[in-house]
Parts: sequence; structure tokens; C-alpha cells
Amino acid sequence: MERIYLDHTATTPLDEQVAGAMQPYFSGTFGNASSIHQFGREAKQALERAREVIARAIGAAEGELFFTSGGTEANNLALFGAVSAARSSVPSPHIITSAARSSVPSPHIITSAAEHHAVLEPVEYLGEHGCKVSVVPVLSDGTVAPASVENLLSDATSLVSVMAANNEVGTLSPVAEIGSLCRKHGALFHCDAVQALGKIPVEVDRWKTDLVSFSAHKIYGPKGIGALYIRKGTPIDPVIRGGGQERGRRPGTENVPLAVGFAKAVDLAMAEMGREQVRLASLRNQLENELRSRFSALIVNGDPANRLSHILSVSFDHSVIPLEGELLVHNMDLEGVAVSSGSACTSGSIQPSHVLLAMGRDSETAKATIRFAFGRGNHEGQISQVVAAVERVVARMRAR
Ligand SMILES: Cc1ncc(COP(=O)(O)O)c(C=O)c1O
Repeated sequence: MERIYLDHTATTPLDEQVAGAMQPYFSGTFGNASSIHQFGREAKQALERAREVIARAIGAAEGELFFTSGGTEANNLALFGAVSAARSSVPSPHIITSAARSSVPSPHIITSAAEHHAVLEPVEYLGEHGCKVSVVPVLSDGTVAPASVENLLSDATSLVSVMAANNEVGTLSPVAEIGSLCRKHGALFHCDAVQALGKIPVEVDRWKTDLVSFSAHKIYGPKGIGALYIRKGTPIDPVIRGGGQERGRRPGTENVPLAVGFAKAVDLAMAEMGREQVRLASLRNQLENELRSRFSALIVNGDPANRLSHILSVSFDHSVIPLEGELLVHNMDLEGVAVSSGSACTSGSIQPSHVLLAMGRDSETAKATIRFAFGRGNHEGQISQVVAAVERVVARMRAR
């Protein structure tokens, strides 16, 4: 049985060309990029070349890109860093004393109900530590409507955080419109573009973003590196301290091999983007049509006209086919097909996805969701095997 990987939104395999580009920087050109001798200078040059490649791909200046350990850290730096700078008298959100808190205005943050946990949890923490938080609901297709953001925006809003592309259902956000609204009200605009990079053009100026988060391992780059775009002049404090690296914004010895790999992955993704997205959309559409023709209870999640090409999220309507949703992914795995579900294990219990609930799915239907995420290794010949696997799994689970 061929094992089929359809979980490219969770992570992607490291591209061999990326591995090759990184290799010399582990032991040959191993210097500390902050050292002033030749070993250090060579490492620094590679780091800066990598920064330039990624910055160019998103329409930024190299001085506006800061390496982090991944998308989660980039989101944390954007949110905690911007809020800390807004409370200019408070050095770090982690050490806010109640006396300090009462002496500074409480920043207002807006985010959407469909964000990744790497945004929602920092925002929740900030809400528990003196910030006013507003959560924008999403439409039934997962879209964040600009009008809903506008209703919550005021001149007291410090920061708005809305993702570019949703990781569960693929829906794209109208980021440029939201960016314009933020500008109008003088609020900073942070965008989590972890799932957008390499899939759709990321244009930090057209989007009117001040802060944008990225991660390498979603685009066949290494795990453990990401970046935060910080528009020149954006007030932001570091959230960790202990060195001047990344111009003081993100202290810690720079990870040169991973930065080089990230840049190579961006280069490859940009070169193939147009062609590959058309190919993946065709695979996605074939699977969607095959499943629709077999299951009348199938609900396709996301905005059909405005979603990432490689994601297909489907739910089985619980009122038509009652399934034990939690077991779908395990059963698909037994069939050799790796997918994701519409639920997550939180504190030992299975919870339906907050994104699907925000889109109005009932909790049982949300749990009975499969997310297929296509990537470079997938081809047309696999579709029939995947469809057959879904048919067997659903038949087995209905019979229980
Ligand atoms: C939308 C989004 N933001 C942030 C992250 C976190 O990125 P990382 O795994 O690099 O920490 C992910 C990962 O799944 C994601 O999908």
C-alpha cells in the first residue's frame, strides 16, 4: 500500500535542494555571524544574503526582516512586542506589575475568531493582562469581513491581527482592505502569513501591513526558523533579551544554516508558485468532485472562490451521517492516507476546531471533518486511492 501524505499544511518535507544549500553552513562555514573575524564575516554574509532573498520576495527592504524560530515566535514577537512598545513605560508584558499596569493606557487589540492558536493565545494572555480585546466573528465561509473589523476599530485601537490565509479551511482574508482601515485609524496591522507565503503573492506594501509572520517549514524549508517583517519605523520591543542580534529585536546567536535554507525554500517556492498552484488546485478539485458525487452529507468548508489552491476541508453533516469524528484521522491513517481533522486534543479531551465552530458548524459535524492538504509529492494517480479510503472509512464508522 502506497502511503499518501496529504497534510502539507501541518508541515512539508525538506526539499533536497534546500538541504544541499544548508549543508555547507553546519560545519564548513560555521562561524558565529556576530564574530568580527573572517569565519564570522562569512556566516554574516550568508545570513544577509538569505535576508535579502526573503525580503525581496515579499516586497520589503532587507532591514525590515527579522529571523525568529518560526511562525509561533514571529506572532508572539509581533503581538507582545507591539503592545509592549505601545505601553512605552512598561518594559515587557511578562513583568507587568499591577502598579505599572494602572499607570499606562490599556491598548485595544482586534483579532479574528479564526486565527491560529499562535495568535489567539498571546492575545488571550494580553487580554488577561490589561489589554482590551475584541474578536471579529467570521462569515460561514471563514471570511473576515472588513466591515466587521471597521465596526470595532477606533482611534484607541493599537493593533489589529488578521491572518492572510486560514490554515484549516484555506479561506483568504481581504488583507489589503483591512490594512487600509487600520491605516485610517492609526492602528498597527499584523498579518499571520504563515500559510500564504509561497502560495499567493505576499505584498507587504499593497496589504498595508506593519508586521507579517512567516515560517519556513510550510514551504519545504527547515523546521525551527521563521521571520517577522517589521515595517521601518514600527515601534516594537523585543520579548526576549540578552544580545544585540537581529538589531536587538530578536537576541540569540543567528541560525545561519536554517536562514540559508529558508531563503532557498522561498526562492524555489516563488519560481514554481503560478504553475504549482494551478496543478494543486486541479488535484484538489478532482478530489472534491469525487467526494461530492459519493456523499450527499458532504459540506465543503471555506470560500470556494477565494481559498488556497491546495486545501480541501470537508465535513460530514452529523444530522445525515453520524460519525465519530475524532476517529476519522486515525482510520484514514490505517488506510495509508495522512490527513488532519477538525478537532484538537486540548487538556486530554477532544475539542472541535474553533475555526469550524466560528464558521457556524455544530460541534459533532466540526469533529467529523477531514482536511486534505496537497503538496509537491502528490499526483493525480493518488486521487482514486484517497477516495476509496474515505469510502471504506465512512462505511466502517457508520456501521459501528
Ligand atoms: C497560520 C499559522 N500560523 C502560525 C503557525 C505556527 O508556525 P510554526 O509551526 O512555524 O511555529 C502555523 C502552523 O501551523 C500556522 O498554520
